[in-house]
Amino acid sequence: MTPDLGVSIAGVSFKNPILTASGCCGYGEELADLFPLAKLGGLVTKSITKNPRPGHPPPRTAETTGGMINAIGLANVGIDEFIAKKIPFLEKQKTTIVVNVAGSKIDEYVELCARLNDIARVDMVELNISCPNVDVGGIEFGTDPKLTEETVRRVRKVFARPIIAKLAPNVTDISKIAIAAENGGADAVSVINSVVGMAVDPESWRTRITNNKGGLTGPAIKPIALAAVDRVYNSQCKLPIIGIGGITNASDVVEFLLVGASAVQIGTALFVEPDAPLKMVEGLKRYLARKKLSSVRELIGKVRKY
Ligand SMILES: Cc1cc2nc3c(=O)[nH]c(=O)nc-3n(C[C@H](O)[C@H](O)[C@H](O)COP(=O)(O)O)c2cc1C
Repeated sequence: MTPDLGVSIAGVSFKNPILTASGCCGYGEELADLFPLAKLGGLVTKSITKNPRPGHPPPRTAETTGGMINAIGLANVGIDEFIAKKIPFLEKQKTTIVVNVAGSKIDEYVELCARLNDIARVDMVELNISCPNVDVGGIEFGTDPKLTEETVRRVRKVFARPIIAKLAPNVTDISKIAIAAENGGADAVSVINSVVGMAVDPESWRTRITNNKGGLTGPAIKPIALAAVDRVYNSQCKLPIIGIGGITNASDVVEFLLVGASAVQIGTALFVEPDAPLKMVEGLKRYLARKKLSSVRELIGKVRKY
């Protein structure tokens, strides 16, 4: 029997629990040159803002121990070009489409989501209230429960399909922010965005990226992400969780499902091995068969704790 990899989040069906993470595959076109996007559970697009943004000057990424550090600065084409030039491509893809949005004030999130509400093929929006790499906006929203709740509440009024709030790990208690998102009317949370970090070249004494500090991602943050998912899963927040952080193979996926994620997103691994999500789908099938499980859903939240 072929194991069932399907999961459902807020009424949206995913053929498997493996999605790509925002910012790590643009708007999907480059990835589609390498494999059919239909093999993915879902695709999450790069954060879109109201106006196009060039982002920070290079160098804006650097390799670090067990991961990378980046401060792209939300470089993106802006909502007008996104709708005109990127949506027609995304509309043809046979996978779930999640559009990630970012803003420097609540009104901007509202305006962006109101426009996306008119595009039926945008299955869900993901609110990036947690970007550490912009001067105004981003992380302020995701570190303040009141702002988180208010942002989601206002977006809820203009966007009819499910809303995911993407949470920052750079807080004392991430579950408080998850509860605030739920109170505002979010349908799911994604846990986690990048962890604030820094990298320095000891020869030149220079910081390695122009923004000096940036977001640490990749295997180095996996234990932090697992602990964050576990914390949200065991809190009063009852929203489904999408786990993110350092996932590179099928066993990493299993770990996130066991601590309570219903699905996962793959970010940095795409830069190392662009078809890593496909290998994870195959690996997950083999894992379920070996464990004699008929559905991936049997793993969710089943971690055994001491
Ligand atoms: C180069 C780069 C750009 C990113 N851009 C965004 C972004 O625009 N919006 C967002 O919500 N997250 C962004 N992220 C964060 C990822 O979506 C993800 O949360 C993070 O990388 C952790 O997952 P990973 O360890 O699998 O990479 C970016 C990450 C990287 C590495």
